[in-house]
Amino acid sequence: MKKTFIALMSIFIGGCGPFEKIFIEEDLLKRPEAKRCGDCHAEIYKEWKKSRHAKAWVSEKFREESEEYSKVKCLKCHAPLEVLEGKKPVTRDKHREDGINCSACHYREETNAIHGPLKVWSPPHPSRQDEFFEKSKYCASCHEDTYKEWKMSGSEKSCQSCHMPNIGKRDLIQNFPYHLLHLAKPRHDHSFPSLKAKSEDIEIRIKKEGKRRIIEIENVGVPHNLPTADQGDPKYYITIEVNFGNGKIRKIRRTLSPEAENTLSYKKPLRISFFESKDPKEIKVTIYRRLSWKKERELIKTYLASM
Ligand code: HEC
Ligand code: HEC
Ligand code: HEC
Ligand code: HEC
Ligand code: HEC
Repeated sequence: MKKTFIALMSIFIGGCGPFEKIFIEEDLLKRPEAKRCGDCHAEIYKEWKKSRHAKAWVSEKFREESEEYSKVKCLKCHAPLEVLEGKKPVTRDKHREDGINCSACHYREETNAIHGPLKVWSPPHPSRQDEFFEKSKYCASCHEDTYKEWKMSGSEKSCQSCHMPNIGKRDLIQNFPYHLLHLAKPRHDHSFPSLKAKSEDIEIRIKKEGKRRIIEIENVGVPHNLPTADQGDPKYYITIEVNFGNGKIRKIRRTLSPEAENTLSYKKPLRISFFESKDPKEIKVTIYRRLSWKKERELIKTYLASM
């Protein structure tokens, strides 16, 4: 029923050139604020609003560290004009409080059209299918270091496949009349989840070399460093508790961060070694993380080995 209706409508509207123009809403090609795109793409707008991309400008920490936006070199990735292949963005003038918004990611001045991963018929604004949107390289203009780490990992999985997961077929549009004219399409989560490593993404092994104990911690599941960052300051906290069974526990702590360059690279085990003249009964390893923009620590893994 919906299909027949759509077919008839597309012949009526799409078939005759001048008619198509009637439906164009000119302001959409002038980089409006994200809310305007949300007039039709209501669900995607809601997801994006929850994302860190939407907070990139208004983030308290960014405001402080950019010294009230006076450090000009900081602004381009946090309020970009356009995302172009192989180039750092330039800073835009309008709607900076939107952070990384729909127009920055989707509008291209070169074609004066909205680019995206799909082939669509979109009367209010011209659209172009563009395969760049499905590539990790797309994210590299800003996530430069993470992209390099990912590249080194040799992973076949794109950034999008994990951080913009496919959420099945949905309508791209929620308002009248377009929601009646279009079928559901593959949709990707625009909340850009930070995700959390699973316990099994990190392997822990305990080795003995003479009187030396070596704890090997290996990132086997996430194809970039843990934690990873270009500018932010995320941390991993590792605690090793060596229990001798007589009430005595020795604690060894390590803090990992991109700044200190001691993160868990993909498939390159981190080795922590220490001397112990007596044999321990138990060794417990716990790993917590803290994201750049969060205060709380979150548990990633606990590991207990009885000797
Ligand atoms: C090349 C692009 C780029 C530039 C330039 C840039 N950032 Fe960022 N920034 C990012 C990305 C990407 C993130 C996401 C987290 C990460 O990878 O560090 C981020 C995250 C952050 C965060 C952590 C998130 C938050 O809101 O708390 C802060 C703070 C920050 N940037 C401050 C700065 C400051 C200060 C400057 C200038 C010295 C700057 N950025 C310049 C790309 C950039
Ligand atoms: C008046 C309604 C309306 C508004 C406002 C609107 N769009 Fe659309 N958009 C559409 C329609 C209709 C489609 C096609 C839907 C379909 O095929 O299911 C579409 C499709 C898209 C696509 C898919 C293109 C592709 O090739 O993958 C993107 C991306 C997009 N819009 C971005 C935007 C952005 C960014 C804005 C704000 C600047 C915006 N839209 C504002 C109606 C609108
Ligand atoms: C125009 C620059 C830019 C582009 C392009 C970009 N990002 Fe970001 N991204 C940022 C900035 C800046 C932040 C940090 C915002 C904040 O927290 O203040 C961020 C944050 C994130 C976060 C949250 C990180 C955290 O610390 O929790 C994820 C996940 C993410 N981006 C994934 C992606 C993916 C996947 C792509 C490609 C589809 C992408 N980004 C493209 C600039 C960009
Ligand atoms: C950081 C860049 C970025 C931002 C911000 C962004 N998008 Fe996207 N968008 C993408 C990418 C990348 C894809 C392709 C995902 C894929 O195919 O794996 C996409 C896909 C889409 C699609 C096709 C359907 C889908 O879910 O795959 C539509 C429609 C769309 N975006 C609209 C919007 C609208 C509207 C906004 C603002 C509310 C927005 N986007 C914000 C990068 C972005
Ligand atoms: C196989 C899935 C996968 C792929 C592919 C992937 N990531 Fe991640 N990413 C994760 C997981 C899981 C986390 C959470 C790590 C944690 O718990 O600390 C994460 C965390 C992040 C963070 C937040 C900072 C941190 O270390 O917690 C950023 C930013 C990020 N990824 C960007 C990217 C970018 C950019 C790409 C592509 C170049 C990418 N990721 C590819 C799974 C993936």
